[in-house]
Amino acid sequence: MRLRFFTLLCLCCCWFVSSEGETVSCSNIVSSGFRSDNISIADFGGVGDGRTLNTKAFREAIYRIQRLTRVGGTLLYVPPGVYLTEPFNLTSHMTLYLAAGAVIMATQDSSNWPLIAPLPSYGRGRELPGGRYMSFMHGVGVQDVVITGENGTIDGQGDLWWNKWRQRSLQFTRPNLVEFVNCRDIIISNVIFKNSPFWNIHPVYSSNIVVRFVTILAPRDSPNTDGIDPDSSSNVCIEDSYISTGDDLVAVKSGWDEYGIAYGLPSSNITIRRVSGSSPFAGIAVGSETSGGVENVLAEHINLYKMGIGIHIKTNSGRGGFIKNITVSHVYIEEARKGIRISGDVGDHPDDKFDPSALPLVKGVTIKNVWGVKVLQAGLIQGVKNSPFTDICLYDINLRGVTEPRTPPWKCSDVSGFAHQVSPWPCSELSSNQQGSCANYS
Ligand SMILES: *[C@@H]1O[C@H](CO)[C@@H](O)[C@H](O)[C@H]1NC(C)=O
Ligand SMILES: *[C@@H]1O[C@H](CO)[C@@H](O)[C@H](O)[C@H]1NC(C)=O
Ligand SMILES: *[C@@H]1O[C@H](CO)[C@@H](O)[C@H](O)[C@H]1NC(C)=O
Ligand SMILES: *[C@@H]1O[C@H](CO)[C@@H](O)[C@H](O)[C@H]1NC(C)=O
Repeated sequence: MRLRFFTLLCLCCCWFVSSEGETVSCSNIVSSGFRSDNISIADFGGVGDGRTLNTKAFREAIYRIQRLTRVGGTLLYVPPGVYLTEPFNLTSHMTLYLAAGAVIMATQDSSNWPLIAPLPSYGRGRELPGGRYMSFMHGVGVQDVVITGENGTIDGQGDLWWNKWRQRSLQFTRPNLVEFVNCRDIIISNVIFKNSPFWNIHPVYSSNIVVRFVTILAPRDSPNTDGIDPDSSSNVCIEDSYISTGDDLVAVKSGWDEYGIAYGLPSSNITIRRVSGSSPFAGIAVGSETSGGVENVLAEHINLYKMGIGIHIKTNSGRGGFIKNITVSHVYIEEARKGIRISGDVGDHPDDKFDPSALPLVKGVTIKNVWGVKVLQAGLIQGVKNSPFTDICLYDINLRGVTEPRTPPWKCSDVSGFAHQVSPWPCSELSSNQQGSCANYS
């Protein structure tokens, strides 16, 4: 039965070839060719002394790459040293290569930081109305870009931004560390991301994105430092990475309320595997901005420590959109407030023009092979009143912990589905309804 199921799965949908058997990887999603040219930031006056401003060097080097248009593209080599710079745009057919000991460090001066238009699927900056600061490394409409090397560091020096956020003195939404808008064929590998002002890696309206062998670090109390947020993007593969930040480690999104509904671009075919880390928020998240829809997400072999919530699928009334065909499996959780949360009342609204009757559809969420210790509450599964969550399947789950005396291990409402081999035993909404379509997965 098991064999037949997987054979069938492999025939239908190669993206989802699972880890039963040999190690699968993202490596065939984007082909990364050999670059025919190799230029060094030093040739453009780059100085890695940690003080010299290298903005001109980076912008000129990338302008040169844009002009070269040699078949095979160009590698921009960043030698060991600390290169302070303002934000810059990336261009097509380039590899940004950070040598061992190379640090590209963002300036902290927000007065000089360029502002750009909000994303149409958000209608405004994510945290404040109006425009937003461009990302430290920004790609718009580019393809065939690689950010890699020998585990050099991209340092956002976020603390000044976080403090401004804490003091409520920011005028616009903080910059991401790296963003790709309308891009394809992107590889980010063997790089360390540190102290992003806001989200770390944000591919939006993009496809064929690979993120592997990265380390993403930000303090536990740093605000909104999400690790990787695939947003209205498809064919995104994230693997073999360590992420420890102040917000969700990976969060799949697709736009915000009426703006996201109007833009209507889903996130689909998202694979997350062999990722570990720690956060006061969620490990694997979908949402809460899911107004363009999210489907076909597979997360497997995830190790989480000291978490707020292990797995969090979140949406809200007014979001619209859908969350369909989500599978999370082989998760180990050590210390968490909650193991699993699937909820229809999370997140704020961009403005008061959202349509409260735009209800999200959540259907087909399978969570299986989860082992947790020191988990205070097993799970909350709370659907939307006039749009109950359906086909929610929990299979082979064991969450142990110091359950608070007055908190029940599970709380459910407006949900139907199926549970099998789940401990502690989940709420009757799941365990008594045997009609869940997820029966296949056992
Ligand atoms: C998602 O993957 C499936 C199966 O490989 C493929 O048929 C489909 O075109 C992909 N969707 C997108 C948006 O690329
Ligand atoms: C690129 O050039 C630098 C010297 O400028 C060299 O150290 C590095 O090994 C070269 N990289 C590749 C991939 O050729
Ligand atoms: C980035 O590229 C855009 C065009 O896509 C341009 O308008 C903008 O000035 C560039 N910003 C910087 C800082 O180079
Ligand atoms: C870089 O980091 C990755 C992920 O942690 C690791 O697998 C790889 O061996 C490291 N590479 C080098 C050259 O140190």
